[in-house]
Amino acid sequence: MSGHRPSVQGATGPAEELIAVLREEGVRDRRVLDAFRRVRREQFVPLAYVLHAYEDRPIPIARDQVTTQPSLVARMVEALRLTGGERVLEVGTGLGFQAAILAALAGEVYSVERFPELAEQASRNLALARMEQVTVIIGDGTLGLPEHAPFDAIVVAAAAPEVPSPLVDQLVDGGRLVHPLGPGGNEMVIAFRKEGGELTEESRLVPAYFVPLVGRYGLPEG
Ligand SMILES: C[S@@+](CC[C@H](N)C(=O)[O-])C[C@H]1O[C@@H](n2cnc3c(N)ncnc32)[C@H](O)[C@@H]1O
Repeated sequence: MSGHRPSVQGATGPAEELIAVLREEGVRDRRVLDAFRRVRREQFVPLAYVLHAYEDRPIPIARDQVTTQPSLVARMVEALRLTGGERVLEVGTGLGFQAAILAALAGEVYSVERFPELAEQASRNLALARMEQVTVIIGDGTLGLPEHAPFDAIVVAAAAPEVPSPLVDQLVDGGRLVHPLGPGGNEMVIAFRKEGGELTEESRLVPAYFVPLVGRYGLPEG
């Protein structure tokens, strides 16, 4: 055997530069870093921003929303401690980048987006990237997806003052949930673990600025 490592499809100069930034931001999980090599972020940003796809910054998308900054995606996903095979729920698909990263790390991913035009574009992006194990659903993600529950892990990509109770109900005992908690615009991203039917805080990941989680168990419209 040679000491040769197989090359990872999709890894490019800019992707490697982004991965160096993720390491600087404290991301250590090698599976997460490899997922960032495999998923090409330029497939998940509007055409006008393709040249900025590997910068560690949020990118504006339709309906006054933004993509999550890559280092934040990495830290949130890392906190789920996925090992492969899990069933994961994402709330807030945007254009599908985090869903693709989750798909590279878990068994199946369900992602809910409230704006149909974003959900439809995300589905197209994920299909082009051959991420067949992701199902994008249009709806209010604060209700979870009872028909596909329970989930081994849940990640919410928008901010609310509290974790929506349906999400807690739909998480397996021992499962992890990551959620930015706050009013929308000034949050702390928190990683929880469900034990004995209740969430307990596992770690405070990072302060952040998220769009509001608008829905029945989240914040009101406007
Ligand atoms: C920060 S963006 C998503 C970023 C995306 N996950 C990514 O990979 O870049 C948050 C998304 O949450 C969506 N959203 C807000 N409230 C929602 C809800 N109740 N249900 C589903 N989606 C919601 C917004 O429309 C927006 O697209």
